[in-house]
Amino acid sequence: MKKGRMDTRVVKNVKATELSRDLMESDNFPFCLTTTYRYPDAVTIAKRFKGEDDGMVYSRMNNPTTRALAKKVAELEGAEAGLCFSTGMSAITNVFLSLSNAGNNVVVNQTVYGGTHKLVTDELPRFGITARRFENAHPEQVESLADEKTTCIFVETPSNPTLGIVDIAAVAKIAKKKGIPLVVDNTFSTPVLQQPISLGADIVIHSATKYLNGSASLVAGIAVGKKELIQKIYDRTFWTFGSTLGAFDAGMLLLSIQSVAVRMQRHCENALKVAKFLEAHPKVERVFYPGLPSHPQHEIAKKQMKGFGGIVAFTVKGGRHTAQKVVDSTQVCERLINLGQNITTICHNASTTHSELDEEALKKAGISENFIRLSVGLEDPQDIMEDLGEALKLV
Ligand SMILES: Cc1ncc(COP(=O)(O)O)c(C=O)c1O
Repeated sequence: MKKGRMDTRVVKNVKATELSRDLMESDNFPFCLTTTYRYPDAVTIAKRFKGEDDGMVYSRMNNPTTRALAKKVAELEGAEAGLCFSTGMSAITNVFLSLSNAGNNVVVNQTVYGGTHKLVTDELPRFGITARRFENAHPEQVESLADEKTTCIFVETPSNPTLGIVDIAAVAKIAKKKGIPLVVDNTFSTPVLQQPISLGADIVIHSATKYLNGSASLVAGIAVGKKELIQKIYDRTFWTFGSTLGAFDAGMLLLSIQSVAVRMQRHCENALKVAKFLEAHPKVERVFYPGLPSHPQHEIAKKQMKGFGGIVAFTVKGGRHTAQKVVDSTQVCERLINLGQNITTICHNASTTHSELDEEALKKAGISENFIRLSVGLEDPQDIMEDLGEALKLV
């Protein structure tokens, strides 16, 4: 810098290294809002490009804050490694496309989130990857569906929005025997309620947009699992597809996760009360909640979950119009299609989150026209039940 000229290069004068000790010792992990990293010398950066040095290169590939988040979620799930993605769908897409080539197939349970359904039904086939579906209650079907061309078995449990339960350990046994990675979408449970890796899964996925965040302030996805599988995702699609999560959102998620255990406990308590209330209501046809003995897979849920989560679904006596009237009449339950947030949300799934499904697929997924999904929040449960009671009075 020439004498007399103002040096505007702030970071040149105040080096990050001078600050880093204090930053690292602060209670919260620093939000490392940077694209790139000053490297010490040409040989070191060359090693980083070769993967021989795990220092930072460029934030599409790695960032201290996103790395800390991946490490935290991996630790909670009992996994060896992890990666953070821009959304839950990005995590799922990366997992499928990094494990598979044209000509391969994936085995997926029948009831999954609408975006995942569309991905495996319409999009993966365009890349020569087909999906074979198995019924939630029949994990033994995986045995005949999976063959030498199968690259992964994917399970969403509890599933969105019908709360289908798949026996993770039973599928894991078949997956292990056949040497095929088992991937579990654990969005509804979080590691607080269910730890698929301890049941034999190889990769666990989260839409961190939901419970891991809680406040509905960001979209994010995380995949954790065996080191070699996570490395494969990183090498094959992660940085080439440009799927990474921004450091700011990763930092926010690290803060949210501090309260996830307490939030999940309250979600479970409230949801069970709401599920019991709805089950006893004369205008309700059926309630879907794995914590109720009436759920067909209640025993399996009890075996693999520490709590049954905050999502409760029900069918109201009547058709689409009646269900939409209930949705339109609530005051406490907010008309929002998101789930897993601190406030209670209500939605009509056939016309929203699962509107991509045709009539036959909706039927197979068990989403009827009179079906309503609730994401039970942290409010006083009495307020939620009274609100639903008032709305049901109007139909
Ligand atoms: C179970 C499940 N998995 C994945 C996703 C996709 O997550 P995102 O919206 O963060 O892409 C969702 C979204 O609702 C979901 O419910």
